[in-house]
Amino acid sequence: MEKTFIMIKPDGVERRLMGEVIRRIEKKGFNITRAELVKPSKELVEDHYAEHKEKPFFGELIEYISGKLVMAMEVEGNSAVEVMRLLIGHRDPTVALPGTIRGDFAHNLTENIIHGSDSLESAKRELNLWFK
Ligand code: TYD
Ligand code: MG
Repeated sequence: MEKTFIMIKPDGVERRLMGEVIRRIEKKGFNITRAELVKPSKELVEDHYAEHKEKPFFGELIEYISGKLVMAMEVEGNSAVEVMRLLIGHRDPTVALPGTIRGDFAHNLTENIIHGSDSLESAKRELNLWFK
């Protein structure tokens, strides 16, 4: 069994999509083994998205998440990292398929409801960062 890090982003919480997202994770047969509603510091969000530090959208991305209520989760299941990325869908709204979380609920590149780790290494790093 693999563990991945999932975050329901501020727009997901504000739009009351937490239940919908949790329902999809549970219907898939995955276990939510940790969950916490938190307002992450700027430092934590910068650390979380460190790989994008040099990108032009970095500032906007950090502002959008820092200090806002998000739901941090540890999700466990077979190939959880890869399968959760499939359930989440592509970040580009013109590519995200209907039936995925982003495909069904997001039309904005930055405000896209949910984050999921992109590899086993990222999952370990992000879980350690968010769940000290
Ligand atoms: P990325 O790691 O490429 O996507 P994913 O969330 O699917 O792993 O980008 C991280 C987040 O950065 C993405 O969810 C939304 C935001 N972002 C922007 O705001 N603008 C952009 O041009 C890109 C590529 C990403
Ligand atoms: Mg990513």
